[in-house]
This record gives sequence, structure tokens and C-alpha cells, in this order.
Amino acid sequence: MIIGVPREIKDNEARVGVTPAGVKALTEAEHTVLVEAQAGEQSGFPDEEYRAAGANVVADAAEVWRRAETIVKVKEPIEAEYDYFREGLVLFTYLHLAPVPDLTNKLLESKVIGIAYETVRDRQNTLPLLTPMSEIAGRMSVQVGAAYLERERGGRGILLGGVPGVAPANVTIIGGGIVGTNAAKVAIGMGAKVTLVDVSLNRLRELDDIFGGRLYTLASNSYNVAQATREADLVIGGVLIPGATTPKIVTHAMVSRMKKGSVIVDVAIDQGGCVETAKPTSHSNPSYSVDGVVHYCVTNMPGAVPNTSTLALTNSTFPYLLRIANLGAREALRQDAGLAEGLNTWLGKLTYRGVGESQQRAWTAAATVLA
Ligand SMILES: NC(=O)c1ccc[n+]([C@@H]2O[C@H](COP(=O)([O-])OP(=O)(O)OC[C@H]3O[C@@H](n4cnc5c(N)ncnc54)[C@H](O)[C@@H]3O)[C@@H](O)[C@H]2O)c1
Repeated sequence: MIIGVPREIKDNEARVGVTPAGVKALTEAEHTVLVEAQAGEQSGFPDEEYRAAGANVVADAAEVWRRAETIVKVKEPIEAEYDYFREGLVLFTYLHLAPVPDLTNKLLESKVIGIAYETVRDRQNTLPLLTPMSEIAGRMSVQVGAAYLERERGGRGILLGGVPGVAPANVTIIGGGIVGTNAAKVAIGMGAKVTLVDVSLNRLRELDDIFGGRLYTLASNSYNVAQATREADLVIGGVLIPGATTPKIVTHAMVSRMKKGSVIVDVAIDQGGCVETAKPTSHSNPSYSVDGVVHYCVTNMPGAVPNTSTLALTNSTFPYLLRIANLGAREALRQDAGLAEGLNTWLGKLTYRGVGESQQRAWTAAATVLA
């Protein structure tokens, strides 16, 4: 199969869909890989490394799209890329179609086979191609929060771990899923006093087993959240209710009672945020203050660490890509019901219920179109 890896052109996107290691494995399996020049540059993979791994490095994006049978990307295509769509082209990338009817229309009109990273499921029914980004954002949230607690960045001037004779900072984490657990690991590792709030008692039991006495767990209710945020120097938001807008667990009134110079990192901001005063920010202007509390609400936190993010993402996506290349898309989708969950568009048909429901359009089950 001919696999194309275009350079990402969405603003501030520095990741790349396939690493030189992936190219090597694909070429060893006798596939051809076309990589657009400089596609991996910002992730720390220069063109020479791709060439050494067996890729054809191609200067022109249009050529990559035209010659490839399968395109592997990171972000959803932007308008400048719509003209490259054509019937039967396989597109394997994050698509996030539900809120974007325009892109959905284009993919359907041009009969592209669109497989979206974010809806692929594994045998445990989790979302394996989203997990690595939550791991990164969770770990980063503490690193970023610690930096904003420094006086120069508007913080209270507190060292997260304290020193002998001086108490460490209080970190409150709302939501104990992938983001929350990874945040807890790093915060505990840095010596902070960490409290984690979750609505699921079973999840709190698991975390209590994992972290023992080093993590304080609290059931999520407004009384506990109010108290834990009032005592916190750093609050990290990691709540998710799949398929729904994130509820505002931390209200404006709670924020106004927090210590001046304390910090909120609302990781859940990409789904609306779990803090009432949080609004989306970007890496070029990441923070602002409300009632003396610093807010950091960057919607694509992993973008700040493209080398780690690319490696983590491609570790998860690559086994699927290799199966698509070896078997062809139809057979790879037929053999793996979890990968078939990722199928959003198939030769002019919408095949994902969530997108159909949110855009109020007809959809056909993936199993039906693949039969
Ligand atoms: N900003 C970024 O760059 C970035 C990167 C990755 C993930 N995220 C976002 O982070 C959020 C969390 O992702 P995740 O992978 O950890 O999700 P997850 O499903 O693993 O965890 C969510 C947790 O929230 C808990 N929860 C639900 N309702 C709650 C409530 N009322 N009070 C307290 N806890 C509650 C759930 O029980 C669960 O443990 C998502 O919105 C995700 O999109 C953002």
C-alpha cells in the first residue's frame, strides 16, 4: 500500500502522524511511505531520519495526497486540504466531526473512508487513541501549575513540594480518570499534599489501593468541592462525562473564595471545562486571572511537547495503521470491531451514530457497510 504522511498545517500543530520507526516497519512490510518534507521537523524528526528509514520525502503536499492510498495525519483536515479528498481515499486521523458539519459534508461528498482516532475502542471498551494525550495533559498539568505558582507568573510564590520545615502545597484534583491519575502521580512525586475528588466511589477505591495513604480521596459533592478548592494552592480539572458537556463542578463562588495567587489548570476545557470561570486559551496566550486566581486553560496541552506527544500517539496508532496497510481498510475494519468503531465515513455514508445524532443526519452502522 502507498501511505502518505503530510505535514500538519493547522495552527500550532507540531506533531506528525508516523515516526521514522513507523516508516521502517512499514517499508519492511513492503509498503511505500511518502512523507512530506519537514513533516516531522518540529517533533524532532528531520527528513534525513525518514529517508534513512526508507521513506520517499516529497516536497509537495498535493503529491503526497494524490499518490497515497491511505493518508495518516494527526489533526482533522482544514479547508486548504479539502480539495485533496477523493473517492476511496483512506484517512486515518483525529476527525472530531460532531461539531463540524462542513468537514462531514466534504468527506461524504468526496466518498472518503474516514477513520477517526477518537472513536476507536479496544477490548476493554476504552478509547486507546485518546488515552496517551490524557496521560500527557495530566502529567503536564502539575508541571504547568507548579510554574504558575511562582510569583513571577502571578502565583502565590509557593514551591509545590515545600522543604523540610515548610509545608508543601495543597493540590486538589477534580476527576480521577486518566488525566487525574497522571496528575496525582506527578504531584505526589513532587511532594505535594494531594486530594482527589471523584463521583465514582469505585474509582476512589482503586486509587486508594494504588496510592495508599499518599492520596486523600473525597466523594464529589458541592460541599466537599468547595472545601477542597478553598484549601488548594493548585486545582486541576479532569472531569469527563462521555458524550456530554462537562458539568461546572467548581462554581464562580468557589473560585472567589480560593486563596489569592492560587492556580487552576482546567484540563477538561476541551469539552467545555469543569470550572465555571474557565474559558479556552492557547499556547501563545495561556493564562488569565479571575478574582486573583490564575487560570490556565489550554485546549491542546500536548502540543507543547510535540516530541513526547508524537511518540505517545504513534505508539498507539501504529499497530492499527500496519493492519490497515497489510489487510486493506475494509478487511482490517471487518476483522477488528474496535477499529470499526473508528469508522465515521464510508464511501459517502455516515457510519458513526454520535455524529449522526449531533448533526441530525441519517447514519448507517459500520457493520452494515462493511458486510
Ligand atoms: N486540554 C487538553 O489538552 C486535554 C488533553 C487530554 C484530555 N483532555 C480532557 O481532559 C478531560 C478528562 O479526560 P480523561 O481521559 O481523564 O477522562 P476519564 O473518563 O478517564 O476521567 C474522567 C473522570 O471524571 C470523573 N467524573 C465525572 N463526573 C464527575 C463529577 N461530577 N465530579 C468529579 N469527578 C467526576 C469520572 O468518574 C472519571 O473518573 C476530558 O475532557 C478530556 O477531553 C484535555
